[in-house]
Amino acid sequence: MVDVLGINGSPRKYGSTFKSLRIALMAIEREGLDTELINLVDLDIKPCIGCLCDEQKACRYPCVIDDDMRELYDKILEAKGVIIATPIYWFAPSGLTKNFIDRLTALENMIFVEGRSWLEGKIGSVIAIGNDGGGLNVVSTVIGALNCMGFLIPPFAITYFEEQQDVLDNLELLVELANIGRNLALIIKKVAVKQWFDQSLREWVEEVRGEIEREATRIRENEKERLRIITRLIKGEQLVR
Ligand SMILES: Cc1cc2nc3c(=O)[nH]c(=O)nc-3n(C[C@H](O)[C@H](O)[C@H](O)COP(=O)(O)O)c2cc1C
Repeated sequence: MVDVLGINGSPRKYGSTFKSLRIALMAIEREGLDTELINLVDLDIKPCIGCLCDEQKACRYPCVIDDDMRELYDKILEAKGVIIATPIYWFAPSGLTKNFIDRLTALENMIFVEGRSWLEGKIGSVIAIGNDGGGLNVVSTVIGALNCMGFLIPPFAITYFEEQQDVLDNLELLVELANIGRNLALIIKKVAVKQWFDQSLREWVEEVRGEIEREATRIRENEKERLRIITRLIKGEQLVR
């Protein structure tokens, strides 16, 4: 059983979303809780087919679609908290992330089946990473959905980034991300907190960001098929998938 699941909604497993999520998860581990990072791109998660729009009680656990979401439902049910980290795609969460959120309805809709959302009381936070704009729209939409599903949202539980810069070079962002992780962990541990935003995380963040860069580089080097395709695209070859 894992305390906190980190959901990476980017198809680039080594990208800015990964790096941002990783620092938040490391801040959680620093508080003594364990975490697991899930790459949605590795899973077969089909789009929601909207059963509840035909019959409210038809949408329930387990979802009628038999795919990798089945295993993920069980992980979510066991976890105490979930951080959703998504790249910003056209002012919205990525398609991978949106499919995942829609499929959470099978747990939330248990409120109509047996009187209680199965997500009620889980702790939720949201990270949106882009290089241009739309971050506020993404975090507002996703945190709103989580809250309506029953998630408890800590103070300083959302952040977004819209710069053409490596996230690991932006210390302010990293401190915010570390606070997202810390606050989620403190709520899970039911710690009485006097001050929620901890500026002293700055020094810790400076220590660990190199570690995350090395991790991202390792993951990137293992993405051999992806790198092969990107290299050929850069050379101007026409590829048909
Ligand atoms: C289809 C697509 C749409 C995008 N739309 C936006 C956008 O609306 N706003 C933005 O800030 N960045 C946008 N971007 C840029 C990505 O959000 C940015 O490169 C981000 O760092 C990708 O995350 P990753 O490094 O984890 O893959 C878009 C990228 C793609 C591929």
